[in-house]
Amino acid sequence: MPTFSTSPGTRDILAPESGRWRSFQQLFADVVEPAGYSHIIPPMFEDLGVFLRVGETTEIVTKEMYDFEDKGGRRVALRPEQTASVCRAFVEHRPVTPWKVWYGGPNFRYEKPQQGRYRQFDQVGIEVLGADDPQLDAEVIALAMQFYSRLGLQKVELSINSLGDSGDRDRYAAALRTHFSSNLDALSAESKATLERNPLRVLDSKRPEDAALIAAAPKMADHLSAEAAAHFGQVQDALRSSGVEFVVNDRLVRGLDYYRRTTFEFVSTALAAAHTAIGGGGRYDGLVAELGGPETPGIGFALGLDRTLLACDAEGVFAPPASRVEVFVVDITGGAQATAICTALRAAGIGSDRAYEGRRMKAQMKVADRSGARLAVIIGDDELTANTAIIRTMEGGSQQTVQRDDLVASVRRALGR
Ligand code: HAM
Repeated sequence: MPTFSTSPGTRDILAPESGRWRSFQQLFADVVEPAGYSHIIPPMFEDLGVFLRVGETTEIVTKEMYDFEDKGGRRVALRPEQTASVCRAFVEHRPVTPWKVWYGGPNFRYEKPQQGRYRQFDQVGIEVLGADDPQLDAEVIALAMQFYSRLGLQKVELSINSLGDSGDRDRYAAALRTHFSSNLDALSAESKATLERNPLRVLDSKRPEDAALIAAAPKMADHLSAEAAAHFGQVQDALRSSGVEFVVNDRLVRGLDYYRRTTFEFVSTALAAAHTAIGGGGRYDGLVAELGGPETPGIGFALGLDRTLLACDAEGVFAPPASRVEVFVVDITGGAQATAICTALRAAGIGSDRAYEGRRMKAQMKVADRSGARLAVIIGDDELTANTAIIRTMEGGSQQTVQRDDLVASVRRALGR
């Protein structure tokens, strides 16, 4: 028989890690919903055209898209991210602005799998459509930082930049092209290819041979329009007055083409270099219009769940949630008592589990240990005859004998409920 394992870049998330994933999303909702963000669940695949708006020159579009023709002859793609989907949803539903939404769930990119880089990876994120107020940029960034600190992370660094308006960006791209083209010989082969597609992305090169040329490259700050520069200044003031620490990194270009004005990235200094970016975002004021809607400003971020949890491991924070099995019922009279007791406990809202197939006491206690339960309820022949049960604390092993009729109430007391 053939056997199967997961495809490259995908993983099964097993307990207790899976519980942590759920708590992660819940904690994110707890941070952003009270700030006015409502939940949106976009589909996992859509018309490929939606995602092409991420940028014709980006790696996401040129190399990484999971696109295919469905049985109805439609060209669709698994979503590589959710910002474009949210903008498509905005155009489709025309909600009242500002429209503040959050999302969480898997995305798909055909990347080279490695630690912290997967082909199916989860993100949580927020998007706000319909306001270009720089105060909003600061709110969005501050919410991400608040979420990181709710997780317990301390080694998160925020970099911000402004890519200006589309005209600024184009002028800057032209200036970069001139700069790099006149020094082509000094550029790595990879960066030469990148230069063809998108001069801004050359700034992302980590190759030592490119470092000098990048350091000498023109600066975005010198190509910003007066409006974009003023906007960026106000964002920085607002961040300062909210107590959010940041550095301005004018080499921060990000991997998606739709960004205008404010862009930002969160890096965990607790992680190895290959996957330190645990989140990022920015303004994408032209995207809704590119998807056929009215000119509408937009801003948001997405945080990589997989990587952020690696950062949590590296900092020793955000432990998996405790087991929800509170009581383990050990029945050494055959198993029918365990069925009855578990049913009664569960009906009373007390998490309970048991062993099967009439195992011996010792084997059942081993399973009880693994279950994470705080109490064991033990029924042997003596207890069955006397219509009693033993309640034992798993830690410490102190025990008491109680009347079977009072078992649920006694367990509740022993749990301190
Ligand atoms: P992004 O920078 O492509 O932005 O992804 C955001 C985060 O998702 C990254 O910082 C990283 O933590 C995580 N991530 C990306 N690719 C992978 C992967 N292959 N494996 C594991 N984690 C990954 C966006 O997706 C934009 N939609 C963010 C945004 C929202 N901009 C405005 N609004």
